[in-house]
Order: sequence, then structure tokens, then C-alpha cells
Amino acid sequence: MTLDLTTMLPQLKSFDEYQAAYQESVSNPEAFWAGIADSFKWHKPWDKVLSWDFNTPEVSWFSGARLNISENCIDRHLEDRGDQIAIIWEPNNPQDKYRNLTYRELSKLVNQFSNVLEQQGVKKGDRVCIYMPMIPEAAVAMLACARIGAIHSVVFAGFSSQSLADRINDADCSLLITADGMIRGEKKIDLKQIADEAMEKSPGIRSCIVYNHKGFAMNMQPGRDFDWNTLMEGASAVHQPASMESEDPLFILYTSGSTGKPKGVLHTTAGYMVYSAYTFKNVFQYQDKEVFCCTADIGWVTGHSYIVYGPLLNGATTLMFEGIPSYPDPGRFWSLIEKHKVAIFYTAPTAIRSLEVFGTEPFEGKDLSSLKVLGSVGEPINEEAWHWYHENAGRGECPIVDTWWQTETGGIMISPLAGITKLKPAFATLPLPGVQLAIVDEKGTEIEGNGVEGNLCIKFPWPGMARTVYGDHERFKLNYFSTYPGKYFTGDGCKRDEDGYIRITGRVDDVINVSGHRIGTGEVEDAINEHGYVIESAVVGYPHDIKGQGIWAFVICDREHHSYEELCAEVKSHVTGIIGPFARPDRIQVVKALPKTRSGKIMRRILRKIAEGDTSNLGDTSTLIDPTVVDAIKQGAEEIR
Ligand code: WT7
Repeated sequence: MTLDLTTMLPQLKSFDEYQAAYQESVSNPEAFWAGIADSFKWHKPWDKVLSWDFNTPEVSWFSGARLNISENCIDRHLEDRGDQIAIIWEPNNPQDKYRNLTYRELSKLVNQFSNVLEQQGVKKGDRVCIYMPMIPEAAVAMLACARIGAIHSVVFAGFSSQSLADRINDADCSLLITADGMIRGEKKIDLKQIADEAMEKSPGIRSCIVYNHKGFAMNMQPGRDFDWNTLMEGASAVHQPASMESEDPLFILYTSGSTGKPKGVLHTTAGYMVYSAYTFKNVFQYQDKEVFCCTADIGWVTGHSYIVYGPLLNGATTLMFEGIPSYPDPGRFWSLIEKHKVAIFYTAPTAIRSLEVFGTEPFEGKDLSSLKVLGSVGEPINEEAWHWYHENAGRGECPIVDTWWQTETGGIMISPLAGITKLKPAFATLPLPGVQLAIVDEKGTEIEGNGVEGNLCIKFPWPGMARTVYGDHERFKLNYFSTYPGKYFTGDGCKRDEDGYIRITGRVDDVINVSGHRIGTGEVEDAINEHGYVIESAVVGYPHDIKGQGIWAFVICDREHHSYEELCAEVKSHVTGIIGPFARPDRIQVVKALPKTRSGKIMRRILRKIAEGDTSNLGDTSTLIDPTVVDAIKQGAEEIR
């Protein structure tokens, strides 16, 4: 075990050390996590490391302690690494100038913006919505919220005005931070215009701070909208961080489930800090001065934990990329790695598969020798993509850490430790220290031993876990702790092979994963059903070569639409308007009826099988009101496949 002089955070250095740490984390969890938490800056020590009850469910870590996470991300490093680069920003267009922000420069911006927020009347506990492009100001906004004790709710900039408004209203945000717009690839997006539409539906918003990123034309409403730079000019660069309680909320992040509207998953301060920092340092085996690049968007949890908090808590240099893998050409990732000498590169299987089709030509002439570790996140990585990534990006040498986790877990839960854990393609391998898994059968009985398969649960608290669903604790309990009482249910299925290695097989609920975006089928159905042409719909996922899963919508139509083409265009643009372009159905099948049971429940299992093209055994269809609808749907599916 080595201790970094600045952060003093333990880093496991061998498989023996991993096993010993795992053992200790199970036999003495409080001492284990206290030892890790010791390396941070606290204003007041904790009274108790852990109290918990998975039935209510209530979990608190390091209670009684006081701290500020932005101080741990920034101020703590100023003495030793004030001039080290904290954030490298790579713009969408590689011809544009990139930016380097040192820890000192980041500190100045965050302090100034903290003062700006306070001048706007934002107080501890207030909710602030952030709807921003992938620019350092987005991280500045998050860190400034954390510094004054406001709760940030970042909304992915691909969401529609309706989705943005829903999220603003659900969390009752009083301030919105956005930008004029952004360009990703060749697509221009007028964020302020979308924000304006959302604000019309969100009466709680008192003010809106707008960062002028691209100089797009926009309307500024006097008294409500304020220019970021103007406010910053007058703001002091000194700001005393608020002293927060360990369990004070840090952020809300919306995510989809099987039923209902997206949930505002709530994370709190100390546990999230300790967990995101520890997992970053150990999974990626980050070494001082290395450049770490995670290609996620800060609108998702991966961006929160592994672009912003995890890296900065470790005094790392984190690269923020505004663009997309295919622009201006499919060699963009590899140019980026070469240009900034990236040592650790963390991306999603969907991105890898989308690049695989271009072959190895985009690698030619690129020096990727800076790379030491590759990472994968967001969905199961298929073996073929794993090997392609390993051979080409990783020169056959870099370990791939296939990291399984969720918005609700706050940080990585199952993953190899880079260079330490023996790899197996398509396996997330082993749980990290502190993570006590349980694979359960349908009845909730734990299945012990190896060579087994079942539903993935976690039976003991870990510091990074979500504490509640904002404003609806009952829903938190119902969603995660009621299926298998006494256990947190992930919604994923998994296998544990003969070596005890875990392979995630995918969601076992009505959630689908499209290009790493988590989408509730019910949400898409609600959006489709709102369209005037539609009476009813049912949405399922089906295997898609690049996206992992595609969206297949079975639709019953109300009146004669002009043509099938028109119906498709209408439904797609409607879903884009209600949710966002990433939730647009790939296939739309018009049906006369849906397979329903006598109690009116749609048998999605049958639709899923049909969409997957696996109709040899549809299982028991005897409970259907009208079993003949199945044949009609089967036939229709063949026509649009
Ligand atoms: C769901 C969580 C947390 C990172 C981004 C997604 C799937 C995530 C893996 C992986 C197989 C994975 C699961 C999980 N997932 N990582 N390495 N292998 N599946 O966060 O949006 O909360 O989605 O993504 O199904 O439940 P999220």
C-alpha cells in the first residue's frame, strides 16, 4: 500500500492487498471506511461511522462530522499542486483552442461563482438546476453549489424543454444555470431557447445565469436572466466554504425506473466523497500527474463521479471532452489521447462499437503510448468489442476495467483493479472492498457458491449509496428495498462463474439501455400515447449492433394516418419533444391489439421475444384474452425487421 503525500488515500497494489482489504471491509466495515475517510479534510470528526437499517431504509455514514467537498476537491491541493492542471478542456472542434485550468485557476472560478450564487440569494439546501454543455463552467457550477451547500441537479443537455421543466419542478429549483448553446459534432443546440421554454413551465425559477459559450443569439429577460461573465467580474475570489454535515444532501440526479416518472436520486456529502475518491484511485490505479479522460457527459452520474468529484478529490488532471467520437472523423478519440497524453481512458461500449465499423485505419499514425489503462462503463461490453478495444486502443497491453455500477450506487461497485485483477472479457469480475453482493432467486433466497445465476442485490451499506428519492422516500423504499426485503435490489441480472467472477447479463425489469442511456419503457410509452394518432402502445428493447439495445414500439392507432412513414415521423418527433432524441423509437410496428392478460396487463415478455426475433418458444400464452393476436404481431414484426 502506498500513501500519496497530498491525498494520503490508500491505493491497493496487489491482489493479496485487494483480498486483505476486502476481508477487512466485511469483518470490520466501520474501521475499514474510517481508515479511508481519515485522509480527507474534516472540520469536525464523526461520532459514528455507520448506522443503518435496510427496512426503513435509513443509512448514515460519518454522522456528526462536518466538512466541505469542494474544499476537499480544490483548496486541499492548492499548497502542493496549485499550478498543476486540474481540468483540461478539449472543444468539439479540434481546430478551436483547448483550455487548461490549474487548481489555482479552478479555485478562483469556484470561489467567485460561489459568491455569485450567494448574491443571487441561493442558500444552503436550495436546489440549483444545471443545464450546460460539456465545458469547465459546468464543473465550476457544481463545485460552487457544493461550496455554499446548495444541492445541484444537473440535467443532461440532450433532454427536451419538457423533461427539463419536469426535473426543475420536481426538485423545486430556484435557480437555473445554462448557456447560450452548444455544438456537438455538426449539430447546433440552442440551450437557452430550450431553457426559456422550460422556464415558462417552472414558476419556481427566480433567476437564470447564462454562460455565453458560442455567441449564439438569445433572449435575455431583464430581471430574470443574468450573464455569467458580468456577474463574475464583480465577484470576490475569496469564499469560505460552508461547513456541511456528513449527511447533508450534495446532489440530485434523475434516472429512469420501470414505472412512473424519472426519480430524483439523492446523494449526500461525506459518504459520496469517500466512495468516489476511493474507487477512482483504486479501480483506475491513478498515479500522480497522469491525465485521466472520461468521455461521459456530466449530466450522468459517470460524469459526476469520474470527471468531476473522483479525479479532483485525488488531485488528478481530468480531461473534459465536449465533442463526439465521430467528429470530425472516427479517429477523434485517438487524436485526443495523443494530443493530451491521456494515461487512463474511460468510455462506453456503444462508443467502441460505433468506432469498430471504421476498422483500424483511424489509428494509423497516432501515438497512443501514453495509455496505461482503459475503462468501460454503462452497459455490458460484448467480447468482440472488448477484444477490439484491447488490441487497438490498448495495443494488447492495457488492462480494461469493466466497471459495473449505477446512478444509485454513487461509484463503481464491481470491477477489476487495473493491472491487479486478472481479466476476463465481458466480466466485471469482482466486487470492490466494501461491496457485499448477494445473488438471489425469484423468491429472494440468496444463491451461494459459484456457477450460479440470478438477480443482483447488495446486502450491506456502502458509503456512496443513494439515501432517498428526492421528496418521496416511500418510492425509494418500494423501488429498491421491497422486492427482496432487507436487500438493495439493483434491477440487474448476473452470473457468477466457476471462478467467482461476475458477469452482468442486463436489466431484469422494464428498463432498457440504449447507447448507455437508461430509459424506462413506460416513459417512452407515455410519450407515444400522448400523440393524437395513438390509442395505446407497448415498448420493449431489442438487440442492436451499435446501441446495445434499440427501442421497438408496438402501436395501436386511433384514426387513419396518411401513411406508415408519416406515423413514424410523427411518433419519433413527438418522443424527441417530450423526452429527447436519445429516446426516439428505432422501430415502430402498427398492431391491431396488444397481448393482454385477463387482468389487462400487457405481456411484455412475449413482445420482447418477438422483437428479439426469438419466437420459437413464447412460453405460456394461455392467460391471454386472445392468443391469436400473437401470430398477427409475429407476422407484422417480420415485415419491419
Ligand atoms: C445500469 C445503470 C453507472 C454508470 C452509468 C450508467 C448498466 C452499467 C455496466 C457494466 C453491464 C452495466 C446496468 C445498470 N450497467 N455499467 N459495466 N456492465 N451493465 O448508470 O444510468 O444509472 O445505469 O447500467 O444495467 O443497472 P445508470
